[in-house]
Amino acid sequence: MGQTKFGELWDVSFRQMMLEAGVRALEDAGIDGAHIDALYVGNMSGGQFIKQEHIASLIADHAGLVPLPSTRVEGACASGGLALRQAFISVASGIHDFVVAAGIEKMTDVLSEQATGALATAADQEWEVYAGATFPGLYALMARRHMYEFGTTEEEMAMVAVKNHHNACLNPCAQYHTEVTVEAVLRSPPVALPLKLLDCSPVTDGAACVVLAPAEEARKYTDTPVIIEGSGQASDTISLHSRSSLTTLKATVEAARIAYRMAGIEPKDVNLAEVHDCFTIAEIMAIEDLGFCRRGEGGKLTREGATQIGGSIPINTSGGLKGKGHPVGATGIAQAIEVVQQLRGEAGKRQVNGATVGLTHNVGGSGGTAVVHIFRRGD
Ligand code: COA
Repeated sequence: MGQTKFGELWDVSFRQMMLEAGVRALEDAGIDGAHIDALYVGNMSGGQFIKQEHIASLIADHAGLVPLPSTRVEGACASGGLALRQAFISVASGIHDFVVAAGIEKMTDVLSEQATGALATAADQEWEVYAGATFPGLYALMARRHMYEFGTTEEEMAMVAVKNHHNACLNPCAQYHTEVTVEAVLRSPPVALPLKLLDCSPVTDGAACVVLAPAEEARKYTDTPVIIEGSGQASDTISLHSRSSLTTLKATVEAARIAYRMAGIEPKDVNLAEVHDCFTIAEIMAIEDLGFCRRGEGGKLTREGATQIGGSIPINTSGGLKGKGHPVGATGIAQAIEVVQQLRGEAGKRQVNGATVGLTHNVGGSGGTAVVHIFRRGD
């Protein structure tokens, strides 16, 4: 595995970012490019952010990997998680042995309103965006409804940001190394109320990369392999108004059900999870949808400290999308990197002691796509 630092990377180009992450991943795996059989790259919108499409070819070319098959995978902010799943399926099918799953997005080369517009293309243009919706706006609707149905408070949402900024301070690759307080979150400028600036994930540049191989091959290269034991993907309606509930993402529930069944485990067996906290309310909904608590109790679980490092179910030890940053196409791969580091016991001050099972949860748009993976320490 390997990744760039996340943040405003104005001094490095798109292709250089991917190369940096890829070289680190190959060095970490102890292999070179000649071993690689295929490449899957998660990228949401190279066309809108840097006016570059056909990025799979660009990356294979710049990495000196032609003529190996290189494929871009797109599912909005779930593009990285979907690339990981495609790589997993490709290895599991027996068609390929060594496969790279990568993710990349360069978002800060455009103005803020252009970034908001580019991200909004992942919502329903005719029914949501033409009416003025943005992603902060759509998640604000979910937050309002969660507050109405379950009594979730703005303070509880703020506690998600406080925890994730704290964890990000312990992560050298994170975009933000600043602690925030509940008061600072509550006082931060309104974006789409009840969501304020510090309830939102930022706009980020970054690339991340992992190498997959059949388990018996991986064991020849490392004493600490991490095994993907479960992979689930599901879809839901793209527009919020078509859903029967605004307080659950059905795609998450279904993707998790498939992944738990494949891995043969239950939510209580998971030691830590990287979940899609694009907004603080999204983490609260995710921990409910993944089965770590009952519906409506995500705010309470957060308030009680269970989701902190040292709590019963640490969530987003990397800093999450909120603190580590959210380069949309790279996020799903970066989540896998954090879980691998944790399961290898290499997470430093973020280490969850004795972790053997980890989960990643990556969402596209407002829940039209979700992908869940379950990892186990392979020793
Ligand atoms: N969290 C913490 N700090 C943030 C931040 C965030 N999400 N976004 C910006 N900042 C900080 C910047 O670092 C900057 O700090 P500085 O003045 O000390 O340098 C300051 O706030 C202003 O930054 P700027 O880039 O001008 O903010 P902005 O108003 O253009 O953008 C948001 C703020 C919230 C609109 C933007 O971060 C955003 O769109 N987030 C959501 C992204 C999204 O929707 N992703 C997809 C999810 S499905």
